Amino acid sequence: MKKESDIGQRSSDLSYHTSVLLHESIEALHIQPDGIYVDATFGGGGHSKEMLKHLSGNGKLFGFDQDADAQRNAPADERFTLVQANFRDLKKFLRLHGAIPVDGILADLGVSSWQFDTAERGFSYRFDGPLDMRMNRYAEKTAADVLNEYSAEQLQQMLSEFGEVRNAKTLANAIVVVRNQKRFETITDLLQVCETNRMGEKHKYLAQVFQAIRIEVNDELGALKSLLEQSAEVLKSGGRLAVITFHSLEDRLVKNFMKHGTFDDEPAKDLFGRYERKFKVITKKPVVASAKEQKENSRSRSAKLRVAEKL
Ligand SMILES: C[S@@+](CC[C@H](N)C(=O)[O-])C[C@H]1O[C@@H](n2cnc3c(N)ncnc32)[C@H](O)[C@@H]1O
Repeated sequence: MKKESDIGQRSSDLSYHTSVLLHESIEALHIQPDGIYVDATFGGGGHSKEMLKHLSGNGKLFGFDQDADAQRNAPADERFTLVQANFRDLKKFLRLHGAIPVDGILADLGVSSWQFDTAERGFSYRFDGPLDMRMNRYAEKTAADVLNEYSAEQLQQMLSEFGEVRNAKTLANAIVVVRNQKRFETITDLLQVCETNRMGEKHKYLAQVFQAIRIEVNDELGALKSLLEQSAEVLKSGGRLAVITFHSLEDRLVKNFMKHGTFDDEPAKDLFGRYERKFKVITKKPVVASAKEQKENSRSRSAKLRVAEKL
């Protein structure tokens, strides 16, 4: 982890992203050489590259990423198509490419190291930069918009629900007081209000606040729900869905959906009140990174892989 003194800099040897649970997730997909696959979160392309190794000349892979920066990583491979779009539009784009049904879908959620470590993107409290946090830089709502325009109640709910910030109400009220003097523009503006109001350990507190705002700006949970619902519609029977999550809010949605076909703890029922299962759960417990991977890549420590097969 970089120190506060590194603010405003980015290390020059930065690679785009180190893939997490790479072999575990690819193995779990049971790739059919002639199949059609989706990498819903293309990023640095590490998972896609591995998927392509398992495909024959007839196989196809569609990589989705809403961040234009990911384009630079697209492999020059005629089996591969990069779709620069939100994965909440999965079905629409697959239909456009005549690619439904598909044999497998992988999603490795959250932001890439590239996004996180680039100061101008505004994702990290380690660097100063604009309060942006948009994965898609053509999207309208930035982190600054959220901080400057949401009501105290909306801010409180966001901080508490998406970041589990313990003193969400205090911080939300403080944000409103501060912005009445001066609008929020930079990461430093946000750090200042956090510093005077934080509870507990500094880095943990900041991580919670930044996570909450990022989830809100990108509607990450809304997009994940759409992806899961559409995966049930576009996957072949026997096709596999593998999802890597990084916090409990995401993991709960994935776990419930794979198990029950809904986002609640209750199974979905059809019109006649019969249970309607969409998937068979392959991973009873989530797969986590090995001790070696956790040591080499700290980001992998919170990763959980869940896999299910379409019925
Ligand atoms: C953790 S990285 C994926 C890294 C990739 N698996 C690799 O091996 O390099 C997540 C990527 O997914 C993208 N992403 C996140 N949510 C998305 C969404 N709703 N729609 C499209 N792309 C999304 C981000 O822009 C980011 O590039």
